[in-house]
Amino acid sequence: MKLISVKELLETQPTSQEVEINGWVKTFRSNRFIALNDGSTINNIQCVIDFENFDEELIKGISTGAAIRVKGALVESQGKGQNLEIQVSSLFIHGKADADSYPIQPKKHSLEFLREKAHLRVRTNTFSAVMRVRSALSYAVHTYFQQNGFYYFHAPIVTGSDAEGAGEMFRVTTLDAKNPPLNDDGAVNYKEDFFGKETNLTVSGQLEAEAYAMGLGKVYTFGPTFRAENSNTSRHLAEFWMIEPEMAFYDLDMNMDLAEDFIKWVINYVLENCQDDLQFLEKRLLDEEKSKPQAERSEMPLIEKLRFVVDNNFKRVSYTEAIEILRNSKPNKKKKFDYIINQWGADLQSEHERFLVEKHFKCPVILFDYPAKIKAFYMRLNEDEKTVRAMDVLFPGIGEIVGGSQREERLEVLQQKMADLGIEEEELWWYLDLRKFGTAEHSGFGLGFERLVQFSTGMGNIRDVIPFPRTPQNASF
Ligand code: 4AD
Ligand code: MG
Repeated sequence: MKLISVKELLETQPTSQEVEINGWVKTFRSNRFIALNDGSTINNIQCVIDFENFDEELIKGISTGAAIRVKGALVESQGKGQNLEIQVSSLFIHGKADADSYPIQPKKHSLEFLREKAHLRVRTNTFSAVMRVRSALSYAVHTYFQQNGFYYFHAPIVTGSDAEGAGEMFRVTTLDAKNPPLNDDGAVNYKEDFFGKETNLTVSGQLEAEAYAMGLGKVYTFGPTFRAENSNTSRHLAEFWMIEPEMAFYDLDMNMDLAEDFIKWVINYVLENCQDDLQFLEKRLLDEEKSKPQAERSEMPLIEKLRFVVDNNFKRVSYTEAIEILRNSKPNKKKKFDYIINQWGADLQSEHERFLVEKHFKCPVILFDYPAKIKAFYMRLNEDEKTVRAMDVLFPGIGEIVGGSQREERLEVLQQKMADLGIEEEELWWYLDLRKFGTAEHSGFGLGFERLVQFSTGMGNIRDVIPFPRTPQNASF
């Protein structure tokens, strides 16, 4: 007999034919009704057993979390809530789950509790739905780029370069911790390490992607990146997945067009392919919102919010215009923003970004042409010599989802910028080579995959959209 999934089964017609299905017991009611799920869909298949026909010990082994196999006739269900059910003729228990110690019981567990059970939480409806959406989004990402002439490029994980220049790197070392080589001043000499220089886990594959874009034309990365930042927020992880397209002969406008088109396409893919999961997640959110004060409730249900993003243009605003807007706005009735936002050149804080997106424009916003001083060294300097061709895409409820730019392709300008920031040329000699040989206008961006999953599923905390979150607090997995 062919092994079929609950999802496939629920899509078939009742035939009274014998079927066989495996899964984990969600609930077992009245010694008669098993709700069985195998992870293939949010929906369960009801399995009806006539307990008189089965061994008592066997029946005792059926409890929430147990893995079982059932065989029986697939028939139309008389009960409410489902169309199909299996009338069980034979039953096999793969593995029991002791009811007193199995942590995932058929009741509402808090997300905090489930974070402590990261190895088991995927058996809940919420996490299985989120992880199926995450998988669909990954597929959509690859499909979009592959269909649009991009080549998938594998950026190195261990690297000598600090792409963002922010110093938030996990050091990778082969040195003997107890007896490391020392410099004259007594400090550890990491230059004697495996790569003959300090090495770290990548914070971004961008610099390497630039090298490949200058040979393959259009490339994208999609892989893990690491930031040793000790930020304890609902938007930051120490290990997260980033998608980084990089395109030769693209200017900033083309870059913004691509970011907008790409995001809309992948969200639309999920709308079309994850309906059951999105409906479940939307209902979950609505239930959660009921416990919040009216003012904090979301204005749109999840699916409507996703559709809104797909159907409407993102608003494009320069940093300078944004500062003007913020200066003249009152985030609440009495007060204006008192932060140094009144000075041109200040970095935007998340409260400013949220105000622009959620209160002022009420749609996704692309901010561009930021002050050079607050952005990374590789961004292309504008004619005003004050701003760079940077762009950030800001999303409601999320904040920054994309950071990107047109890159500085002029050798002398790049060298000057690096000198100003104290970045040594020998550190990035190969990156400078790209400007010496066949340089050209090019652009790219990075999208934080977990932030995209957060937006698409409505999950409030980034730790709940990645299987095993890496944060300063999650040491046990
Ligand atoms: O803005 P970032 O730091 O940009 C870069 O790394 C560029 N090199 C990208 C490029 O142009 N190729 O990061 C890009 C995105 C952010 O907008 C955010 O969505 C996400 O990565 N991100 C994080 N996501 C989760 N946890 C963190 N600690 C993140 N840091 C950045
Ligand atoms: Mg950024």
